[in-house]
Amino acid sequence: MSEPENGPKAEEEQGAVSAAGGDRDFLVVDDLHAGYGAVRVLHGVSLRVGEGEICAILGPNGAGKTTLLRALCGMVRGRGSVRLDGTTLSGRSPDTVARRGVAHVPEGRGTFMPLTVEENLRLGAYARRNRAEVQADLERVYGHFPVLKERVKQAAGSLSGGEQQMLAIGRALMSRPRVLLLDEPSLGLAPMVTRELFGIVRSINQEERTTVVVVEQNAHLALDIAGQAHVLESGRIVLSGSAGEIKADEQVAQSYLGYRI
Ligand SMILES: Nc1ncnc2c1ncn2[C@@H]1O[C@H](COP(=O)(O)OP(=O)(O)OP(=O)(O)O)[C@@H](O)[C@H]1O
Ligand SMILES: [Mg+2]
Repeated sequence: MSEPENGPKAEEEQGAVSAAGGDRDFLVVDDLHAGYGAVRVLHGVSLRVGEGEICAILGPNGAGKTTLLRALCGMVRGRGSVRLDGTTLSGRSPDTVARRGVAHVPEGRGTFMPLTVEENLRLGAYARRNRAEVQADLERVYGHFPVLKERVKQAAGSLSGGEQQMLAIGRALMSRPRVLLLDEPSLGLAPMVTRELFGIVRSINQEERTTVVVVEQNAHLALDIAGQAHVLESGRIVLSGSAGEIKADEQVAQSYLGYRI
């Protein structure tokens, strides 16, 4: 029996389509090696993220999750290739990578404590000249994070941990990213705040179709919002699959994620 010409097989040959409906070849990482001087951390990481998808990177402390995000945004140099929508990002400066649409929210958030909420958000739009557009994007960010609108003139340093994480994500959104890299957004936050934050990340992803790569220790929560997930161990991907598959596999959960379902 042969497949109809436009059936699934034809589609597969033209390039796989992700669960979120986007092209699986949107963010393509191929055989990435990276580290710090003589310290080699990533040993040939390859993965693909579809446009509009949420991809979770899980794994134990020291696995290289932060280094992977740093390599994706150009902060750490490496060998191998990183491409976004067909454009090569590997070998480019962090500034160029940011201009190509990759926004990185680092571990520890990177907000400027003495500056106000609004000043921090405007810094996220530093490369943009159109004031009306920037103003519209501020309102867009306040739409996602109403609590930030209530605190516009407040110093970032006086915000709660959850609000600071929202500010960091809001600042990243001000560059209108195509890909948002989030490093441990739940770090130090109460479970209820974390759930709220992940809910907002999911609605940003759904409403703006922003592709998200999220590194998380809280595997349960990350797998709730992610389409696919990869487990990183000692700088190598040891397991990949749909979030549902990874979550449902009890042995996987115990050996890699450190919890019982
Ligand atoms: N600036 C650096 N210089 C040298 N080695 C580093 C540096 N940053 C990280 N490393 C090393 O690289 C390895 C991976 O670190 P990385 O921060 O990427 O792991 P991680 O998976 O994010 O861990 P965690 O869950 O603790 O955040 C570790 O062995 C770490 O000691
Ligand atoms: Mg880390």
